[in-house]
Amino acid sequence: MNCLAPSILSADFSRLGQQVKELEEAGAEYLHIDVMDGTFVPNISVGMPVIRSIRPCSGQVFDVHLMVEEPIRYIQDFADCGADVITIHAEACRHLDRTLEKIREQGVRTSVALNPATDLSVLEYLLPGLDMVVLMAVNPGFGGQQFIPYVLEKIRNLRRILDRRGLNTDIEVDGGITLSNVGKVLEAGANIVVSGNAVFQGDISENVRKFLKQMGE
Ligand code: DX5
Ligand code: ZN
Repeated sequence: MNCLAPSILSADFSRLGQQVKELEEAGAEYLHIDVMDGTFVPNISVGMPVIRSIRPCSGQVFDVHLMVEEPIRYIQDFADCGADVITIHAEACRHLDRTLEKIREQGVRTSVALNPATDLSVLEYLLPGLDMVVLMAVNPGFGGQQFIPYVLEKIRNLRRILDRRGLNTDIEVDGGITLSNVGKVLEAGANIVVSGNAVFQGDISENVRKFLKQMGE
């Protein structure tokens, strides 16, 4: 089953609760929440108080993407405010395995994100213990960027590795996904797609429905 994970980075924050409900009603099963610290990425976005306040608005899977240097410092906080999946960047952790262990201890699903240029080999020993891998299709930090085409090959390679090893780890792809390239992303082997701008520009419900149709859902 394929899932859509709208990214609230492109939301109208003055109406966030309402927009989150609209996404859920339109059929988006995940809610992608981008947390940026101004150090790992050049931008700053939202943190715990925002997640805590929208948690009662939605029963969606809260997919928290930490673009944060040394996220081990905040795992407990994000688990407490309602994250269902926590994604950490391989590039941002001095002790990746220890950070994943900390997520697991909180009973939260584990996920590692890789920047476009980061090789899949960093996941070699971690894959059996991971619930999800996020392949970045843009350099993280901003919504509305262009999808980097070589990431399609990376998705195919990861799908091949997972199949060969008999693992059912989710593959989420994040960045630059629109109605016109979502088909290729799924065809390459992703099963969860993040979309910010393409969902929030114009009519949200209509956009979600178009995405789900395009995704065969
Ligand atoms: C980029 C973020 C993405 C982004 C996706 O740093 O991690 O989740 O908001 O937005 P679009 O779909 O607009 O690229
Ligand atoms: Zn993201």
